[in-house]
Amino acid sequence: MEKNVSKLPASIIFIFGGSGDLTHRKLGPSLYHLFLDGWMPEKFAIIGMGRTAFDDTQYQNFIKEGIKEFSERADDKDGSVWEDFAKNISFMTMDVKDDEAYKSLEKKAASLQEAWNEKAKIVFYLAVAPQLVPTIATELGKFKMCGDTDCTRIVVEKPFGFDLESAHELNTLLLSLFKEDQIYRIDHFLGKETVQNILALRFANALFEPLWNQNYIDHIQITAAEEIGVEDRGDYYEKSGALRDMVQNHILQLLCMVAMEPPVNFDANEIRNKKVDVLNAIRKISREEVHSFAVRGQYKSGWMKGEKVNGYREEKNVNPQSNIETFAAMKFYVDNWRWQNVPFYVRTGKYLHEKITLITVQFKQPPHSAFPSEATETWRPNRLTITIQPDEDIRLRFQTKRPGQDMVLNPVEMVFKYSDAYQAIQPDAYETLLLDILEGNTTQFMRADQVEVAWKVVMPVLEAWQSRLPTDFPNYAPDSWGPEDAEALIARDGNNWYSLPAQNGLQSKSTPADNPR
Ligand code: BG6
Repeated sequence: MEKNVSKLPASIIFIFGGSGDLTHRKLGPSLYHLFLDGWMPEKFAIIGMGRTAFDDTQYQNFIKEGIKEFSERADDKDGSVWEDFAKNISFMTMDVKDDEAYKSLEKKAASLQEAWNEKAKIVFYLAVAPQLVPTIATELGKFKMCGDTDCTRIVVEKPFGFDLESAHELNTLLLSLFKEDQIYRIDHFLGKETVQNILALRFANALFEPLWNQNYIDHIQITAAEEIGVEDRGDYYEKSGALRDMVQNHILQLLCMVAMEPPVNFDANEIRNKKVDVLNAIRKISREEVHSFAVRGQYKSGWMKGEKVNGYREEKNVNPQSNIETFAAMKFYVDNWRWQNVPFYVRTGKYLHEKITLITVQFKQPPHSAFPSEATETWRPNRLTITIQPDEDIRLRFQTKRPGQDMVLNPVEMVFKYSDAYQAIQPDAYETLLLDILEGNTTQFMRADQVEVAWKVVMPVLEAWQSRLPTDFPNYAPDSWGPEDAEALIARDGNNWYSLPAQNGLQSKSTPADNPR
């Protein structure tokens, strides 16, 4: 395969939180992959910053260890490419509250550009705890380090705010220091290949779009289920919960991709405008109605794939009486012409039966059945499922006649698997997003108004849940699909949650009945 030749200008990437977990697991390996594939600029520097007393060699080793542990790429893990890459990595020990530190940072940027004899793009990546973001941003502003709006970028990780008010405050602060185009608010789901593929499926095919509306679609489901618990993130999770952690951002973004109108072009603001339109159209629910639109759950202790696991309340750094939800399910309506009265059911949770992110588009029954009733006993409406992870595929269920002398209808699935069709290695979400940042493309990042309107959508639920404490927590067992109430939420409308049948070769065989779960 031919190697890419990056045409990117010289770039300096300052990583605040350079010795932290995100850098170790994601940023280091992703930048290395970009380098391996020839996407990094010819001249670049990665400067980790943090309180750890690393020298450059120790920091390079820290990055290398992260690559060894978290990279799935086998090409040249510690060979010559690594040596070339490592030359560009250095570390600065600093306290982010110390003015002096920013002066050294300024000097470092100046000396690199002088040595390169080229003006560089400068990225400030804030891979730090959310409470440090305002401090760092203010310091960068104070030292006018982002004054050149064309050349400097600031990257802010999620969570972006804790609620609508704090998100608005953070936006106001950032926008007083930087231009919107300089701010890259990360939602890593948007960098996933298959999430981007939703746009290709919907807008690069003429087949689906005419049917993609309330005339033909009965309802839509989005499941983002995880097999892991909160692990060692109890401290963070106690301030978050599933609604803030997954629904306000990742799941609403998926919903936007499914529900948005066709964009006129791929301009960053065009795509983001279309998504904001969806969020604005989501039906407002009052706090009093929350119980019929939202369900929360918390996992008990129990067994997960044969291993004994703690309940949420027994996890490290978690209050033993915690009322934080580790599961959330919701029903949304998008009030516009396209989606009037089509329910969008979403659910997410920790320690669920399977790791899977799945979008299900359930079509309506045909308006009339000309077949005798015995022919249609196993007849099921059309269904399109898009699996985002772990296996990436698209499945379309449709009816066939069962072979034989009798007229019997039976559903089958047509399955498209990305891994069968494409042998190329799929980039990790962070690789895609880091490259976008270097290229200055904000399409897959959250704009200020997008973040705030997404908070508006979930605020009534957050408020209702805070004011009415759950009486049944913990209410679901590990390795299940969440609390009973989540089944009731969807069953009230005559529907049931769908998850893929076990991956055991069902593919193009007939699927005699639904797989209600
Ligand atoms: C993060 C959440 O944003 O997304 C985590 O904070 C969650 O709690 C993770 O586990 C899921 O991401 P992925 O890419 O593993 O599906």
